[in-house]
Amino acid sequence: MALRINPSILASDFANLQSELGRIANADLAHVDVMDNHFVPNLTLGFPVVERLQEVSPIPLDIHLMIDAPERWAPQYAELGAYSVTFHAEAVGRESDPVSVARSLRERGARAGLALRPGTDAEPFLELLPEFDMVLVMTVEPGFGGQSFMPETMPKLRTLSQAVRDSGLDVWLQVDGGINDDTIGIAAEAGATVFVAGSSVFGAENAGAQVDHLRELAAGHVHGHR
Ligand code: DX5
Ligand code: ZN
Repeated sequence: MALRINPSILASDFANLQSELGRIANADLAHVDVMDNHFVPNLTLGFPVVERLQEVSPIPLDIHLMIDAPERWAPQYAELGAYSVTFHAEAVGRESDPVSVARSLRERGARAGLALRPGTDAEPFLELLPEFDMVLVMTVEPGFGGQSFMPETMPKLRTLSQAVRDSGLDVWLQVDGGINDDTIGIAAEAGATVFVAGSSVFGAENAGAQVDHLRELAAGHVHGHR
């Protein structure tokens, strides 16, 4: 099972996004947090900026949509060529549903990701796993970088990890929030395979070396059964 490190550019210098992407060229994907100030109480960047990031990034983009009614925008991020587009289960509007949004992403050639806030249970979504390429278990409340990892989300990750193993599907399990040298092993041990890290990577003097370091720490905690 490949382990992936996706640095979150939320913690990078927004005045120099292209050169910041260059600092993490050895990472797997660049994690881009799109926030709308409605689903979360913060506003970051949107479609025109991501369109340019897609053109200049040395690595593929992992889009994390923290926006209401993702059915309206998610397909467009897939169309611009994003490798992966993740939307929140809690944000899908009444006129749509997670499976329809996921299908609209896959039809456009992107991997489809489903994100769950810390308080959202995995159980109702287990039967939808065949429709998704990734599930994102938020390890902080979405909205801001630099928060502390919430270990109480690990039972949910274990449930999902077991369900993915039972299904035989190749669904990636992503964690996002408070991932650093001290916490990445906890998440890896519970079954995460894709690790988003913002402040831990971009706060390091050598961001690329920190990506490699995190990858090694995660690998040290993976059990043989995966
Ligand atoms: C938070 C974002 C995260 C954030 C993680 O809502 O989804 O991607 O950038 O930042 P750190 O790694 O600093 O917790
Ligand atoms: Zn994120």
